[in-house]
Amino acid sequence: MPSSYVIAASQSRHMSSRQRYIPLNTLERMNKVEFKIINALPEHAEVLQEWLYQPKNLEFNPIYKSNLEENRARLAELCSDFSQFGPGKKMYWIVLHQENPVGRLSIKNYNSESHSVEIGYQIDERLHGKGLGTIAVELLTHEVFTKTNIQSLIGLVAKLNTASRRVLEKCGFTMTEQTPDLINLQDIRRDLIKYVLQKN
Ligand SMILES: CC(C)(COP(=O)(O)OP(=O)(O)OC[C@H]1O[C@@H](n2cnc3c(N)ncnc32)[C@H](O)[C@@H]1OP(=O)(O)O)[C@@H](O)C(=O)NCCC(=O)NCCS
Repeated sequence: MPSSYVIAASQSRHMSSRQRYIPLNTLERMNKVEFKIINALPEHAEVLQEWLYQPKNLEFNPIYKSNLEENRARLAELCSDFSQFGPGKKMYWIVLHQENPVGRLSIKNYNSESHSVEIGYQIDERLHGKGLGTIAVELLTHEVFTKTNIQSLIGLVAKLNTASRRVLEKCGFTMTEQTPDLINLQDIRRDLIKYVLQKN
């Protein structure tokens, strides 16, 4: 079942404290917007492959160089619901805006002692700067905190990835530590900053 959310600008000023960080300016600009997150399926391999190679993603994210068929196979192996999720598992969602795919969300690296997971997100580069990244992370936060026992979300962000850091800050994450010289998959060393959002 997809999770869908209708966010009306007129309600946004009266949201609960956990929802307060939805960007009011964006909602007011868009008046009323409808978003859905659905599990990523093999049929999404093409759009994900396209997003993978967009310049902003290449600049800040490690990528697994793989062809379409390998990506399809990987998507078929992902957990499709939280009952299958745990250490070593990964979940992936597609963010739909008015039924159109606009970005991806993921969780991985479940820590069974701290009940934390690491989040990932990307918005189609043609749609950057419209508030979608912030809304997508807000949707992921809501999905995870309302449907699982996960107690904290972790965002590991390159220090120079200003847009991503801003998204996390707007969603209530706090900066905890800087991890220097972390190596990504292309052997490029980048300073990473760890952000955390606790459930309560
Ligand atoms: C990070 C990302 C998801 C943000 O998506 P987005 O839809 O553009 O985000 P928003 O529109 O919600 O913008 C969030 C904030 O970042 C700011 N921002 C956006 N692009 C920016 C840029 N290039 N430089 C500085 N700030 C930027 C926006 O102004 C906004 O802040 P504001 O509300 O205070 O003005 C998007 O840049 C992306 O997909 N990047 C590639 C993948 C990636 O880096 N993922 C995160 C891995 S940790």
